[in-house]
Amino acid sequence: MDKFTLEIKILTKRISMKFSGKNVLITGASRGIGAQIARTLAGYGLKVWINYRSAPEPADALLEEIRANGGEGAVIKFDATNEAEFSEALSLIAQSDGELSYLVNNAGITNDKLALRMKLEDFMGVIEANLSSAFIGCREALKLMSKKRFGAVVNIASIVGEMGNAGQVNYSASKGGMIAMSKSFAKEGAARGIRFNCITPGFIATDMTDALSDDVKASYEASIPLKRLGSTSDVAEGVAFLLSDGAGYITGETLKINGGLYM
Ligand code: NAI
Repeated sequence: MDKFTLEIKILTKRISMKFSGKNVLITGASRGIGAQIARTLAGYGLKVWINYRSAPEPADALLEEIRANGGEGAVIKFDATNEAEFSEALSLIAQSDGELSYLVNNAGITNDKLALRMKLEDFMGVIEANLSSAFIGCREALKLMSKKRFGAVVNIASIVGEMGNAGQVNYSASKGGMIAMSKSFAKEGAARGIRFNCITPGFIATDMTDALSDDVKASYEASIPLKRLGSTSDVAEGVAFLLSDGAGYITGETLKINGGLYM
């Protein structure tokens, strides 16, 4: 793509989706869905803060790609389950950019096993990684965004938090908790002009699903009314909408992005 076409493309996107804020932090953004959210939001003109926990290389490479495409961003290292680290990171962003406009709690893990074999530590580990980390992010964002009486948060939950799944008692509890927690944050944040919403992706094609055999993939696809796995872009565009001014009257909502698998 030549530079002129690229500029037109970025401009068109900026016009089609308006944001009153200027920056966004995405947790766990160096790969998968988080990385695509960063690319998409940078394409819409936001400065993206790409969080990673351990290896800097993929986050640095993503930042380079975003800059090469005319976007703006920075990388930031912290463990989203660490209250002090996560809080400090958010404050640092607010200080260096003068505000924190948007947050996407995307970092998450699984640790699947049947309930009868699941130890309490297996359960709590996933709750801490997925739900407690999002709680820290939502609370600190609410504090910082309250100063400007503006902001929006999107929490990436899962279809499994709505319909349950064998082998994922811990994961479904963490994601279902995220949906309920977002509604309560939405009620507390509304008077301060801050919106909290959730996205519940279904089967999304990532490195993980690429490794599945064609037969397994075909059986997944057959069960989805739209007959395909979702793409990371499908999720990222939903995030962009929920953060944008176009969703200014939407809070405490859960947007299903699952091809009709669960309605
Ligand atoms: P992924 O495993 O590729 O990416 C998750 C990222 O979060 C990784 O980079 C990981 O290092 C990071 N992370 C985990 N714990 C962290 C912590 N404590 N601090 C900072 N970073 C941390 O997963 P994927 O598929 O991109 O998923 C992203 C989100 O979407 C997750 O919350 C996942 O539960 C959710 N989701 C994914 C679906 C899928 O089909 N891939 C379906 C439904 C929900």
